Amino acid sequence: MNHCIKKKNKDFINFIKSIYKSNKQIKLHEPRFYGNEKKYVNRCIDSTFVSSVGKFVDRFEKKIAKYTKTKYAVATSNGTSALHVAMLLANIKQDDEVITQSLNFVASCNAISYCGAKPIFIDVDRETMGLSPSALKKFLINNTTIKKGKCINKKTGRIIKACIPMHTFGHPCKIDEIKKICDYFHLFLVEDAAESFGSFFKGKHTGSFGKLGVLSFNGNKIITSGGGGCIITNDINLAKKAKHLTTTAKIPHKWDFDHDMVGYNYRMPNLNAALAIAQLEKLNEFIFNKRKLASKYQKFFKNTNFTFFKEPKNSKSNYWLNSIIFQNKIQRDQFLQETNSKGVMTRPIWKLMNKLHMFENSECDDLKNSNWLEERVVNIPSSVTI
Ligand SMILES: Cc1ncc(COP(=O)(O)O)c(C=O)c1O
Repeated sequence: MNHCIKKKNKDFINFIKSIYKSNKQIKLHEPRFYGNEKKYVNRCIDSTFVSSVGKFVDRFEKKIAKYTKTKYAVATSNGTSALHVAMLLANIKQDDEVITQSLNFVASCNAISYCGAKPIFIDVDRETMGLSPSALKKFLINNTTIKKGKCINKKTGRIIKACIPMHTFGHPCKIDEIKKICDYFHLFLVEDAAESFGSFFKGKHTGSFGKLGVLSFNGNKIITSGGGGCIITNDINLAKKAKHLTTTAKIPHKWDFDHDMVGYNYRMPNLNAALAIAQLEKLNEFIFNKRKLASKYQKFFKNTNFTFFKEPKNSKSNYWLNSIIFQNKIQRDQFLQETNSKGVMTRPIWKLMNKLHMFENSECDDLKNSNWLEERVVNIPSSVTI
């Protein structure tokens, strides 16, 4: 093995251990609970309102709407259920088609599939690792036609109804350009902002550009509710329908049980919201800390043969997961091997969605950048440093 690379990998391991002041296993992303978490969770337990009704969950929704500067927020059991409901609100039905990026976490593809629809995989940009507006436009111009306000896939004859770009690892994608394209082609825009809570594009919170935005508060995210998610929107009808669908479609009444459609038990429990509110109080501190960590990484990787992935132009990223790009797969694999064997957790980026057997027959474009990044990107420890 190249001696110089081996030395760089060793330097990285020592650097990480000094940053986290630890010789034990260093995780990719651990939550931090040093605020009011226990106090609020205990208060919630004392109230007995631990499930889907309670003051914490209502308060959490108001705080999320305020922070993201959206009009409405509907808290859900997790980000995946929020994506599923977003697909239902976009009226996605059996055999419809939905565009998303192939360099992705599996949740959006699952949500599309829950509705019996088919994903179409489009390439990402190298500068953002999010959906590429130019690839999206090219695909739509070459492959679709607009009939009666609907975007029809000329090859399959199916309707392409929606588009789900994702803000990869917290870095905003070029969402303003994507929005323009979606508007032109009559595509319902759902932003998967699961990883980008606290990230802004041109001063606006990610998730607030689309008709709907989806957030996740899973244990590995910048703030956590244990498990949880949220739908954000400026559309009152969509917000009302989201709340209805996530609360078993029950018609509000003091004692009657009446449901007007098939609904879902997807509301965030009050107990989780209690934890989330305490975490929210720490959000700015976490973002500050993570951005500081990112700048330390940037300096460290400056004169090496890997590239540290910086926030894209026009954006302020939460730097949820830091990543580096290797020159090739061999160097990447050496790094993964050496760091993990020395107790420093590092992970390759996801396998492309079109390579998962459930989606292997899906339509794709050339996925040039996705394939390139898939071989080279590694996530490195990114927890808030203590
Ligand atoms: C991009 C993306 N979308 C959706 C989800 C799903 O969120 P959850 O785990 O809360 O269901 C996640 C991660 O967990 C994610 O990273």
